Amino acid sequence: MTQTIQSENPGRTNTEQLRAHYPEMLGKVAVVTGAAQGMGAVFAAGLAARGVHVVAADINEDQMAGTALEINGGLGAAALVDEPGRVVAARVDVTDTAGLDALAETAIQEFGRLDFWVNNAGIFPFGLIEDITPQQITSVLAINVQGVLFGAQAAAKRMAPGGAIVNMSSVSATRIRRGRGAYCTSKAAVAHLTESLAVELGDVGIRVNAIAPGYIDTEMTRWVQQDPVALENALNAVPLHRLGAPEEVFGALLFLLSDSARYITGNSIAVDGGSQHV
Ligand SMILES: NC(=O)c1ccc[n+]([C@@H]2O[C@H](COP(=O)([O-])OP(=O)(O)OC[C@H]3O[C@@H](n4cnc5c(N)ncnc54)[C@H](O)[C@@H]3O)[C@@H](O)[C@H]2O)c1
Repeated sequence: MTQTIQSENPGRTNTEQLRAHYPEMLGKVAVVTGAAQGMGAVFAAGLAARGVHVVAADINEDQMAGTALEINGGLGAAALVDEPGRVVAARVDVTDTAGLDALAETAIQEFGRLDFWVNNAGIFPFGLIEDITPQQITSVLAINVQGVLFGAQAAAKRMAPGGAIVNMSSVSATRIRRGRGAYCTSKAAVAHLTESLAVELGDVGIRVNAIAPGYIDTEMTRWVQQDPVALENALNAVPLHRLGAPEEVFGALLFLLSDSARYITGNSIAVDGGSQHV
């Protein structure tokens, strides 16, 4: 995996320039799920580099602890207690609603507030329609869909007006590819759920948006990258003819969380090299 979680946070120094672009982010508090690796790890690092405190959570507790330590520049969270952009690692299984509530409480206890919640954790089960198992469809709906709904519930209960939630949808919400019936269904549900959440949470001043990535260079797409035929097929459906980097998805996340997007809710931003049009 091309993991570059420290690229914007080198030893926690020289981040003033990054903070200058979105000064309102300094001192805000975010929860990011699925943050042990891939896009979630890059999101946690990118937010921390801009002075956002992050509770970074994953079902893989050991990997999450290592990732948080790396983002914190090798310093334990306790050593950074007075620093902006501190990352605290937590374990969560997003299918566990009590666990999601406890995660939101961790943010309040550690940092005294909750501004942003990123429902990023997800799985990608592969299976042609006739081969999808009950276990696959149950798991993908529990993690990718219920995890988003109950994550948003846990967040909304504790957010003040001005809070923002971002859900990870996918180009698969609108584009069908063989072997992804269960995954496409789950991401279409995330896109729809994002709109429902935006309408109802708009009443309490919370914005809810989604990001719909295409092929991004993470463990989730390793199987495509390792199979030349699958890779060629995939890139034929990408007008920009390359995979995306997690950092390129982070740009959309930062925008959606920031004040620049304060009149945007219920939307999905595609970060897919144009795949949604092919
Ligand atoms: N990589 C892509 O091309 C791509 C494209 C579109 C959408 N997405 C979506 O973006 C999100 C992040 O994907 P990624 O590529 O970084 O994947 P990844 O597999 O690298 O990381 C996913 C993380 O989620 C965690 N996770 C899985 N189940 C969990 C659970 N029950 N509770 C808590 N954590 C759990 C994993 O441990 C892992 O750390 C996912 O929702 C994925 O569906 C990815």
